[in-house]
Amino acid sequence: MNAVVLSNVQKTYFAAQGDVDALGPISFAMAPGETLAVVGPSGCGKSTLLRLIAGLDDYTSGEVTVSGRAVSQPITDVGIVFQRDLLLDWRTVIDNVLLPAELKKVDLAAARRRARELLSQLGVADFADRFPWELSGGMRQRVAIARALLCSPSMLLLDEPFSALDALTRDQMNVTLQQVQASAHVTTLLITHSILEAVYLSDRVIVMSARPGRVLDDIRVPFAQPRRLSLREDPEFVDITRRIRVHFEQAGVLVG
Ligand SMILES: Nc1ncnc2c1ncn2[C@@H]1O[C@H](COP(=O)(O)OP(=O)(O)OP(=O)(O)O)[C@@H](O)[C@H]1O
Ligand SMILES: [Mg+2]
Repeated sequence: MNAVVLSNVQKTYFAAQGDVDALGPISFAMAPGETLAVVGPSGCGKSTLLRLIAGLDDYTSGEVTVSGRAVSQPITDVGIVFQRDLLLDWRTVIDNVLLPAELKKVDLAAARRRARELLSQLGVADFADRFPWELSGGMRQRVAIARALLCSPSMLLLDEPFSALDALTRDQMNVTLQQVQASAHVTTLLITHSILEAVYLSDRVIVMSARPGRVLDDIRVPFAQPRRLSLREDPEFVDITRRIRVHFEQAGVLVG
């Protein structure tokens, strides 16, 4: 069974100033454990897509199913990371990571052990008792990822999690995320503006058209995981990035 299925999903935001057709109709499916990257021009409906899958917003027509069930309310077996990390500044790092366990009322001692393990895997174990405002942007995103993974969700939804980071930190985050994902075997949807990041991290890349976003291309990324950063120089890797870039050039989004 597919982990996620979108069938002719369409979303219109209705407003007095004028309705906005934000997305679709769009159809695709994700296999369990797959990492799918979604790229597309700004405003094409990527964040909307993520919100529909998470059940944070309702679709206008079509159907979204997660683990075989139609999504009609916020799904719980999921970890979400947004561009802004949404950490609570008055809670320590470890207490931020523990938040989902508190909300779900699961065994806190076990959750605390898991939280420490994740912080260590993500390279921020030494900061467990600090506050978010004592951390750099990259470290904060590491904490946000740990929090998203705490309850071992079957799905991870990432909406441009690294776009506020400098290029070097971002590369490092790519490597870390890949390692964590390999051990978590979690179905992952990654929205990104970076073509390199999309190809490096995913098993498959969907290229979306301008708003209302539809699938322009669906590209398999055939390299085994885990991957070295130097893979980005491999001719086959470069070919895939070129194929994506050409879509953006043809859409007039990338000129040069
Ligand atoms: N809550 C909302 N109410 C009305 N319109 C909205 C709302 N959220 C998004 N939109 C509109 O829907 C369209 C798609 O927005 P969305 O945020 O999904 O795009 P995006 O692809 O994530 O863009 P970006 O790459 O800039 O993050 C945009 O035209 C946006 O203005
Ligand atoms: Mg967005």
